[in-house]
Amino acid sequence: MAVLSGAQRLVIGGGKRLSGELEVQGAKNSILPLLSGTVLCRGESVLHNCPHLTDADAACRILNCLGCKCKREQNSISINSEQLVNTDVPLELMREMRSSIVFLGAILGRAGHCRLSFPGGCELGPRPIDLHILALRKMGVDIKEEHGYLDCNAPKGIRGAHISLSIPSVGATENIILAAVTAKGNTEINNAAREPEIVDLAAFLNKCGAKITGAGTGTIIIEGVPKLGGAQHSVIPDRIVAATYLCCAAITRGELLLKNADFNHISAVIPAFEQMGCSIYTYGKDRIYINASKNLRAPHKIITSVHPGFPTDAQPMIMALASTLKGTTVFVETIFDNRFRHAQELSRLGAKISVDNRVAVVEGVERLTGADLEATDLRGGAALVTAALFAEGTSTITGISHIDRGYDDLVGNLRKIGADIENK
Ligand code: UD1
Repeated sequence: MAVLSGAQRLVIGGGKRLSGELEVQGAKNSILPLLSGTVLCRGESVLHNCPHLTDADAACRILNCLGCKCKREQNSISINSEQLVNTDVPLELMREMRSSIVFLGAILGRAGHCRLSFPGGCELGPRPIDLHILALRKMGVDIKEEHGYLDCNAPKGIRGAHISLSIPSVGATENIILAAVTAKGNTEINNAAREPEIVDLAAFLNKCGAKITGAGTGTIIIEGVPKLGGAQHSVIPDRIVAATYLCCAAITRGELLLKNADFNHISAVIPAFEQMGCSIYTYGKDRIYINASKNLRAPHKIITSVHPGFPTDAQPMIMALASTLKGTTVFVETIFDNRFRHAQELSRLGAKISVDNRVAVVEGVERLTGADLEATDLRGGAALVTAALFAEGTSTITGISHIDRGYDDLVGNLRKIGADIENK
C-alpha cells in the first residue's frame, strides 16, 4: 500500500530549512513496463527496489487478473507468469492507471491476442496511442477499435518489422519492444525513445533471454526469440523523484545528500540548479549533493524535451522553485498540451506566473504565503508540496491520490530532513 493512501490532505508549515540525507526510491516509470514485461516470462521473476506506489499496486492487480501470481515482500515483487489464464484487462483496471496501455505489447507477445479498453485522455491533455497501434499493425496485429475497446489479434503470430516512429514516444517504444521480443524475425525501431527506463526494460528482458541491442540510442534492434524465462532485476533510481527532492532542498535554501541516485539520468536538470547558483556535486557512483545559498537567481529559460533533454516531468517542481528566485524564467513545454495546471495553484501562494498555451513566464517573488491548494496531477502535486515548503504559514493540499501514484512516503522523507508536513 502506498503510504499517503487514506489521508485526505497534506498540511505543510512552510519556512523550515531542509537538511540531511535521503535514499531515492526505484523509478515508477521503470517498474510499470518491467511488471508488464514479466507477462512474457514463462517462470518466476523478482523485481527489487520497487517503491510502494498506487500505480505499482494497480499494475500488480492487472497481473493477478491475467493469472500471473504477484507477491510483494517489502521492496521486492515476485511474479510467477507460468500460467496466463486471461488476456482481457477489464475497464476498471485500465482506468486506474493510464500507463496500463504498456500491457498491450506484452500480452500480445505472450498470447497473440488481447482486449483492452482505450486509455483515453488524462490530466495532462489528450494521450493518443496512434503510434502504438500503427506499429503493432505493421507487426501483423489486427486491431479493431470499437466502443472504447481495442480488440487485438495476431492470427499468424507477431512478426518483426522495420518501424520508424514520427515522435520518439516512450510508451510506443516500450510496447514495440515488448511485442517484438518473442516475435518471428527481427524488429528495428528508428527514432526510438532514449529514456533510461527504456534501457532498464531492455536490460531486464535480456536477462530473461531476449536479444535487444541499442536501447538508449535512437535505433533499437530486437531479434525475436522463441520464449523468455524469468530473472531477478533491480529497478533503476527514480530520476524525477531525485529532481523533486533537490527542488525541495533548494527552495528552502537547504542542503541535501541523495543516495541511490543516478547523476547521469538527470544531467539535463543539473545545469538549471547551477544557473540558479546552487552548488551541486556527484559523489561516487550513486550520490548527489546539493547546497543552496540564500541568494539564488532565476535560471532564465527551461525548455522541456525528450531524453537526454530537460524532462517534462521535472518542469512543475522547477517552476515552483523558480517562482521564488530573483529574475524571470521562461518555461517552454514541448511534450504535453496541458502541463501548466499547477501554475494557477502556485498563484494562490502568491507566485507570479502567466501562461500562454505552451509557454509560462515566471517572475520570481520574495515571499509566498500559505494557502489551500488542490493537486490535479502527479508532478503538479509535487510542485505544490515544493512551493508550500517555502511559503510562510500553513498550506493544505488536497487531491493527494495523484501524489500517491509516484512518491513512496513523501511525507516521511520530507519530515526526516526537517520539513513540517503531515497527512490529515
Ligand atoms: C512517459 C512517462 C511520462 C512522461 C512521458 C514523456 C511513463 C509511465 N510515463 O509517458 O511520465 O511525462 O513519457 O517523457 O513512463 N504521442 C502521440 N501518439 C502516441 C504516443 C505519444 O502523439 O501514440 C505524443 C503524446 O501525446 C505526447 C508525446 O507524444 O505529447 C510524448 O508521449 P510519450 O513519450 O508516449 O509519453 P508516455 O509514454 O505516455
